[in-house]
Amino acid sequence: MQNTSHAVMAQRIEGRDAPDDFPTPPWATRALLEHVLKHDASFKNKTCLEPACGAGHMARVLAEYFGAVTNSDAYDYGYGQIRDFLTHPFEMRSVDWVITNPPFRLSEEFVLRALTIAKEGVAILARTVFLESVGRYRNLFAQTPPSKFAQFTERVPMLRGRLDRKATTATGYAWLVWELDAASVTPQLVWIPPCRKKLERNGDYPVEASRLMIV
Ligand SMILES: C[S@@+](CC[C@H](N)C(=O)[O-])C[C@H]1O[C@@H](n2cnc3c(N)ncnc32)[C@H](O)[C@@H]1O
Repeated sequence: MQNTSHAVMAQRIEGRDAPDDFPTPPWATRALLEHVLKHDASFKNKTCLEPACGAGHMARVLAEYFGAVTNSDAYDYGYGQIRDFLTHPFEMRSVDWVITNPPFRLSEEFVLRALTIAKEGVAILARTVFLESVGRYRNLFAQTPPSKFAQFTERVPMLRGRLDRKATTATGYAWLVWELDAASVTPQLVWIPPCRKKLERNGDYPVEASRLMIV
């Protein structure tokens, strides 16, 4: 019997120069604001940068909560400005939050850079296994641990280049959050409760081709 779990996980292994274009289902971004950051009215006065915006599936949700969202990506998806996050001279402390789902192979570099640009906090969506590795421990977690590690209890299916409401995955995901106002940080482990059904909206997914056919 085929090991389908491995097959699904292997899809996310990209070559070193690949863009790693795996759009985030909108409900998973709403879960950050609703269950982890626990937004309030003050978010409408805050700014946010989505520096790897792709086709805007995360950015559009961030705009539901933040007063202003700036979007960019190293590749052209017809959404946001074209800027390599690791080399473009973004101004230090120029936005309140930096929030993204970065290319997995560059996640560590993205966090370190985002921490110089944000005034209030940084949040990245990453595979749960991002927490592992001696390299990441030495370069990131030992000196700069996240203030929150928020594990999804539901799976967050991501496919290369497209959203699909019916997709499945064997990969676990979490939001890692660095809140910059804390003087010293003891990381907090939290669980994101089941919320997909409540946080999905009509219009989050492309209309299926079959439904477009006139019958
Ligand atoms: C996992 S996708 C996420 C897309 C979008 N953030 C979302 O959640 O729907 C990663 C994105 O990182 C972009 N990317 C890759 N390398 C980058 C870089 N050096 N600077 C900015 N964006 C980059 C890719 O083009 C891709 O859109």
